[in-house]
Order: sequence, then structure tokens, then C-alpha cells
Amino acid sequence: MRASRTLNIGLCGLGTVGQGVWKHFGRLRADLESRLGARISLHRAAVRDLGKARAVRIARSKLTTDALAVATDPDIQIVCELMGGVETARRVTLAALTRGKIVVSANKALICAHGAEIFAAARRGGGHFLFEASVAGGIPLIKAVREGLVANRFPRIYGILNGTCNYILTKMEELDAPYASVLAEAKRLGYAEAEEALDVEGWDTAHKASILAWLAHGVWVRPEQMIVEGIERITPADFVNAEALGYGIKLLAIITRDFDTDQICVRVHPTLLPRDSVIARVSGVYNAISVTGDVVGTTLYIGRGAGQDATASAVISDIADAVALLVHGKGAQFMGEETAPADGRARLMPPERIRGRYYVRLTVADLPGVLARVATIMARNRMSIASVIQHPCDREGTASLVLTTHESDERSMRSALRALARLSSVRGEPLLLRIGDLGD
Ligand code: NAP
Ligand code: HSE
Repeated sequence: MRASRTLNIGLCGLGTVGQGVWKHFGRLRADLESRLGARISLHRAAVRDLGKARAVRIARSKLTTDALAVATDPDIQIVCELMGGVETARRVTLAALTRGKIVVSANKALICAHGAEIFAAARRGGGHFLFEASVAGGIPLIKAVREGLVANRFPRIYGILNGTCNYILTKMEELDAPYASVLAEAKRLGYAEAEEALDVEGWDTAHKASILAWLAHGVWVRPEQMIVEGIERITPADFVNAEALGYGIKLLAIITRDFDTDQICVRVHPTLLPRDSVIARVSGVYNAISVTGDVVGTTLYIGRGAGQDATASAVISDIADAVALLVHGKGAQFMGEETAPADGRARLMPPERIRGRYYVRLTVADLPGVLARVATIMARNRMSIASVIQHPCDREGTASLVLTTHESDERSMRSALRALARLSSVRGEPLLLRIGDLGD
């Protein structure tokens, strides 16, 4: 196809993801231009520190520290927001959208906090907001859910949505490696967020779960309305215990909707999954998501969920969509608020009513009667114990006690945990993990 029009792209952010886009775009440009029928130019880039060494070659004259100037530049039609953070990113995104530009974003924290406002601004300004890189890195999951599976309602979507946490859990299990050193390695590899708590405390997964819940059900669920628990308290001993019980441990986002009661439930927590399930076997920086539609049945998506190249792949796919839209008007029906179903009727299930089975690890005084006291507390809270494992602890006179339970609910489990934590024979805070027999 003959390229006639020139479209200019502005990058706000030239860090891990921005440099990945710059690097791969240089290689792909001629091919994309010929396929899309336009000349495409990486016009300007905003960074925080003009003096920082970068792995890509870029003329100094193209760099600025003023991201808003890039977003409002009349010569730029497509703005890629790859800075991270929320407040500046929000201003930049809204400034571009109100001027009718197309914004490509990898920023799940921003979308989770301000998605409704962003889509409204796009509608009012005549712009578009594309966000494939915001969920599941290089896996085209947004496209799959909103386009490929448009015929479906979604009773269940669940999976691994954070590459950093999956990398840490994998290395802890495989190498018995200490948590801190694996986290440092994930940072070095460009997987982790600038604010690492977003990853390890589960918030990044919650942001992605919120975006998926909106795409699937048309409802924005805020992280404060979900159970959000991270991986920081998991120890190598938990992998040994889980294996003895036939499970692996994964940090999962679980989004379910009961279409009879129209209740939706969104939660993020480390989960014991049967070791032979596909998702339990997904390792390293890979994400894996099981999407069950009422028409298609269950579909599975696996791929690298973080890192420079995987994320650049998703950003460049949005850039190609943006160019196709500007040149040919193609795909617009999937790019606005109408992306998500409009019914918005689903109500949120109160977290305390969520039902499931549990794994509880306690450090206890290794004395007569302690197990009986623990069992009494579980019984008083109507928690039925399914199995007990006891090991001696490194600390003299203590033992590690691992209980699994039959099905109960969060309210009963939390009440039992509070009572257990008050026992003088229980040392430190009990660890609670959920057992998920979710299938694939
Ligand atoms: P990063 O390496 O920290 O890069 C951030 C970039 O933005 C840097 O170039 C920084 O400038 C620039 N920047 C930050 N604040 C700025 C400001 N106020 N004005 C101008 N420039 C500013 O982050 P990243 O890993 O590339 O992540 C970028 C976004 O992609 C985030 O929203 C992240 O959540 C998302 N994401 C990341 C991944 C991943 O695997 N890394 C995957 C999916 C999505 P300097 O270089 O001068 O510091
Ligand atoms: N920090 C995120 C992760 C980046 O590890 O999954 C990709 O969104």
C-alpha cells in the first residue's frame, strides 16, 4: 500500500517499556508503514532526566521533560503514555484525549483509578484510548475478551496477572531462593513496578482485575472493594507443605459472576492450585489466564506478562490499531467505552460471603494441649479441619502447624484467625492462603 499521510507519535516515558517500543518500532517501521498505508514517525519523547544514559539512540532534540507539551503538540496524533504513576499520567492522558488524539497506555493503575473519566474524555473530545499493554503484558487479552469473545457472557475469569510475583514464587519454589534477592532480580530484569509494593502486595494484580471485570461486566470494581493479598509472607516452607498436599502456589486474580443472582466477585490472593493444573505449571514471568464464556466454554491464554519486549509488542499493536483507525477508520467500534457491556447491573458480592477452602499456617508452642485448643477455636467458628501437618520449627520449643479446612466462608475463617492469633501458644501472625479448585 502507498503511504501518503504522515502520522506522528509522541512517547511520554522512555524507560523499560518506552525504550522497548522505540527499539522494536525502528525495526518494524517500514513494514508497518507499507501494511497500514501511512508514514509513521516517532516524533518526540518526554523523560524525567534528560542526562540519563539510554539503551536506544535518540537525538537530544527529540527529548523534553515536559510530558504535557508532548500530549498537546498539534503535530502529534498518537500519544503513548508510558510513564507510570497516576496524577501526571492522568493530566497528560486527559489533555491528549480532549484534543481528539489517540492515547495508547500501559498504565493499569491509572485506568483502574480513572477509567470512567478517561473514557468519558475520549468520547467528548473525539479521541480514543487503547490499553492492550495494561493487562497481561504481551498476551493480547484485551482484544481476546472484547473482540474475539464478544458473543459471550463471562461467569469466570481467573489467572496469573503479575509477572514479577510469578517470577518470585517460581524462583522461591525451584531454588529455595530468598524472597529479597529474587525481587531484586525481577527489578533488574525490568519486570517490577517502580513502586515494588504494587507488585508484591497484590495491588497491580488488582488494577488488572478491575480492568478485566469492567471489560467483561461493564462495572468498575475498586481494589478497596476486593480482597487483595500479596505474596510477601509466603516462605519456602509453604511450597513444601503445598506440594505435600498436592498443590502449587500462585498469586491469582479471580473474577466470577453468578448470572442467577447477578452478583460479581473480584479478588486477588495467593492460591493453592492442584499441581497438575495448567495454570499451576506456568512459571517465571509468564502470565496465564483462563476465560470461561457461556458460549465458547473455557479458553486459556499464556505468555510473558511483563518485561520490555513483551510489553512493547502490546503497545505496538495498539499503535498499529491507532494508525489503522486514523487512516482507514477501522476498528473504532471496539475502542471506546462501548468496549464493555453496557448492562452494568451486577452487584458486588460482600467479600465476607465468599466461600472456599483454606490453608492456615501457625507457629505454635510445641506443648501438650495446643493442637486441641487450635481445634476448639476452629470448631467454635464452624470451621471443619480437613488435614493437619506438623513440623518442628527452627525456633526451639515451637512447631509449624498447617491446617487445611473444608469449605467455609471468609467471615468464619477471619473470626477463627483472630481468635487463633490471641492464643498465647500461637507465636506471630498466622498465614492464611486460599485453596482454589478452579480447574483450567
Ligand atoms: P520506567 O522504566 O520507570 O520508565 C518510566 C519512564 O517515564 C522513564 O523514562 C521516566 O523518565 C519517565 N517519566 C516518569 N515520570 C515522568 C514525568 N513526570 N515526566 C516525564 N517523564 C517521566 O517504567 P516502565 O517499566 O517502562 O513502565 C511504564 C508504564 O508501563 C507503567 O505504567 C507500568 O505500570 C507499565 N507497564 C510496565 C511493564 C513492565 O514490564 N515494565 C509492563 C506492562 C505495563 P526517566 O527515564 O528520565 O527517569
Ligand atoms: N510489574 C508488572 C508485572 C508489569 O510484573 O506484571 C506488567 O504489568
